[in-house]
Amino acid sequence: MEYNNYQSFPKDFLWGGSTSAYQVEGAYNEDGKGLSVQDTKEITPGTTDFKVASDHYHRYKEDISLFSELGFKAYRFSVAWTRIFPNGDGEINEKGIEFYSNLIDECLAYNIEPIVTMYHFDLPDQLNQKGGWSNPYTSEAFVNYAKVLFERLGDKVNYWLTINEQNMMILHGAAIGTVNKKVSNVKKDLYQQNHYMLLAQARVMKMCHQLCPHAKIGPAPNISEVYPETSNPKDFLAAQNLNSIRNWLYLDVAVYGRYDPLALAYLKDRGLAPEITDEDLEILKEGKPDFIAFNYYNTSTVAYSSMEDAVVGPEDGDQQIELGEKGVYKAVYNSYLKRTNFNWEIDPDGFRATLRSVYQRYGLPIIITENGLGEYDELTEEKKIKDQYRIEYLRDEIRAMKLAISDGVEVFGFCPWSAIDLVSTHSGIRKRYGFIYVDRDEFDLKNLTRIKKDSFTWYQNVIRTNGEEL
Ligand code: BG6
Repeated sequence: MEYNNYQSFPKDFLWGGSTSAYQVEGAYNEDGKGLSVQDTKEITPGTTDFKVASDHYHRYKEDISLFSELGFKAYRFSVAWTRIFPNGDGEINEKGIEFYSNLIDECLAYNIEPIVTMYHFDLPDQLNQKGGWSNPYTSEAFVNYAKVLFERLGDKVNYWLTINEQNMMILHGAAIGTVNKKVSNVKKDLYQQNHYMLLAQARVMKMCHQLCPHAKIGPAPNISEVYPETSNPKDFLAAQNLNSIRNWLYLDVAVYGRYDPLALAYLKDRGLAPEITDEDLEILKEGKPDFIAFNYYNTSTVAYSSMEDAVVGPEDGDQQIELGEKGVYKAVYNSYLKRTNFNWEIDPDGFRATLRSVYQRYGLPIIITENGLGEYDELTEEKKIKDQYRIEYLRDEIRAMKLAISDGVEVFGFCPWSAIDLVSTHSGIRKRYGFIYVDRDEFDLKNLTRIKKDSFTWYQNVIRTNGEEL
């Protein structure tokens, strides 16, 4: 849609940036922290582990002061469950509470709104050893952990996010560490895990409204629109299939307390449906989000697939949504889109389309909790990072978000990935996303000095002008 008049960003728009605990903090075993699945998982050969990361744990004051200089109105970070409960449950580790309490105070001192994710891929290893999310006990432990967060930090936090990218944990379980290899049907087990997570999330959202009535809470999946390869109606149906399996399955339960009918039909037919009791349905109905947070990086494009197709996912339960599934959809290359050096598609129009779809379907205010460009940044001899490519990427994405606002979508914040350089999920520190460079290499920690990138100065002006100057 083109308009005669375009809208601006709302006055109190939450411009900010994001990180996650295990990717930025380091101090993986300090002050009583227990190990998470990220500390115990196999690291991609040739890349660093998460032991030191960006050393944010020790340098958070310096980092938040830089975020303030950048102009952040919000900082989205996650709490490491294993700092609060080293084993996932049991005794509270007071040092963990103290760290996050200080971190939040530091944000508040600069008028930066803390946006707190409760769980970002770092399940306590002790819980994982007892079956992880396959074991309903993990849901209980999560609800208890959330209660402690509300009770101990709740008076200072206005925005909570429950679970980061639950859909990616299910659709890429093997990569993120949620696959339980001890079960006979890994894929079915993943959907049961998903159901337990959804139940836990609903209970936590309800609890938030009871314990912290001033606060707002929402889920934080990775959502992206799926395109049909052609105008062949069969391709369109395939796109609807993946949209349901990838996106709506998760958000429909969070918002409406029921499974998307198409996704449920698929799960039942393939023998993957979780056990859903009447009591579960009650719990799901009672937990309501106040907003939707989502992470957006790129879209998918798919074509029709028949039951005779050779497309199949790998057997270890990692579903590899990039590949397809016979009788459901076949992933195809989208020749209209450019790609990053890490082969991720760049699609700002897809961002606008995704924002429209989510708002049309749920009608809840939206905050973007991740979006950004992972690149091999280079530190020049003059100690500069000339990341014009990141500026161009973000400029186009922010422009698309502004157009979505003109489309009537209610967006109240933008926290790109990442506020500062951190360790990528699978590609080490060489894949950088931040506005602030952290001077370390994959295996040489150097001095971890912070250096403002060119994108820092650019984003600072974007925030200063409330998105008018891009
Ligand atoms: C999101 C995750 O999926 O993408 C982040 O929430 C992650 O944890 C980000 O770092 C970028 O992915 P990657 O693999 O490039 O680090």
